[in-house]
Amino acid sequence: MNDTHKVYIETYGCQMNLSDTEIVSSIIKKSGLNLTEKPDDADVILLNTCSVRDNAERKIHERLIHLKQYKKKNKELVVGILGCMAERMRNKLIEEKKIVDLVVGPDEYRKVPSLIENAFTGEKGIAVKLSRVETYDDIEPLRTEGIFAWVSIMRGCDKFCTYCVVPFTRGRERSRPLRSIVNELEKLYNNGFREVTLLGQNVNSYKDTDGGFDFPDLLRESAKAVPNMRIRYTTSHPYDMSDKLIETMAEYKNICKYIHLPVQSGSDRILKLMNRNYSVEHYLGRIRKIRELMPECSLSTDIISGFPTETEEEHKQTLDLMKEVQYDGAYMFKYSARDNTKAYSMEDDVPDEVKTRRLQEIIDLQNNISRELNRLEIGKQHEILVEGPSKKNSEKWQGRTDTNKVLIFEKNGHIINTGDLIKVVVKSSTSATLFGEIL
Ligand code: 5AD
Ligand code: SF4
Repeated sequence: MNDTHKVYIETYGCQMNLSDTEIVSSIIKKSGLNLTEKPDDADVILLNTCSVRDNAERKIHERLIHLKQYKKKNKELVVGILGCMAERMRNKLIEEKKIVDLVVGPDEYRKVPSLIENAFTGEKGIAVKLSRVETYDDIEPLRTEGIFAWVSIMRGCDKFCTYCVVPFTRGRERSRPLRSIVNELEKLYNNGFREVTLLGQNVNSYKDTDGGFDFPDLLRESAKAVPNMRIRYTTSHPYDMSDKLIETMAEYKNICKYIHLPVQSGSDRILKLMNRNYSVEHYLGRIRKIRELMPECSLSTDIISGFPTETEEEHKQTLDLMKEVQYDGAYMFKYSARDNTKAYSMEDDVPDEVKTRRLQEIIDLQNNISRELNRLEIGKQHEILVEGPSKKNSEKWQGRTDTNKVLIFEKNGHIINTGDLIKVVVKSSTSATLFGEIL
């Protein structure tokens, strides 16, 4: 392999993809190729893609049109598609997009270097087999410097929510061994990392079959092994948000009191059509348990507006549920029909303008709730993990509360470094941000 070749990777979509890019980067570096941060310098451009909604895929199509210019300038340039869209579209991408040289699905990243090598000789390549065992457990992700790290603990999803492509693009659920994950956390702490997010499409289903450990076991062992590391996790499924998990979270100070618990809809009928396997009552029961054991815990969710056959009344039930739960934040989407999924065969019968209007009502309500909850933060004290200069205003610094809220503060002559834990008091707030002073 020509070790002067440089590879540039662009990442789209969820945190799992960001984490996968670190794995691919590690595989590429080990093979002797170099990585670059600049697409202009690259001999290989890889797009790590998302398929979850139509507009995510549209973005990639637009980017590919843009990349034609790069290929005009450099005829030898290799362009590759990785990730969910590679898995979903397979050789269609090579057939329809002349510019694409390689297509690699989420379970075939070990083949990326050899496929790149072949592409340099003009051979187009595709690797999209899904695996029941691949977890990349032995590969140490190539992380960028910092204090935050993602740690992928499992891959795939067996839930088959009827709207979702993930079970088709990422395959069956499989978990890494507990011991290996805990060792990785210890290593990360020793290398200066101060916060980790354990990642999986559905972490509550984590299972170390050899050791007989479940997700609460993993959280407990992690919390004990790195007591000065903040530990977060995402994403949870309400169906298996067990008492044991909530109790474990409550027990350890370094497990952050923040839960992302996607509800998707406030209507039992729609939840059934979505194959979510829980009722609104079950969901609210989980919220009550969380609040009972961790009154300070913050919550966020995912909501889909305009699922097939959703009525106005059912949309209102979603708004009612949001009012009842009082989420600190939410990711809100218009339903997007995805080929291959069960919901694809249902008629996508909610007109786009109705979906848009319902989505706007959901967003407006959420903004009001977030603003009000953040207003109630004024006067409260928090311990924040310092991230560094604020993204919007480099005069100021920013950190994050245990409850995952961004807090902006001034250093005011204090000597403060990235990675410090400091005490602050909240002085003002908006729906998205807290502003505070060092205590
Ligand atoms: N349309 C709209 N939103 C979707 N999501 C997943 N699939 C779809 C779809 N087809 C949302 C869900 C999920 C989040 C990651 O993306 O809310 O929780
Ligand atoms: Fe998709 Fe449902 Fe699995 Fe989440 S739990 S990845 S929404 S199928």
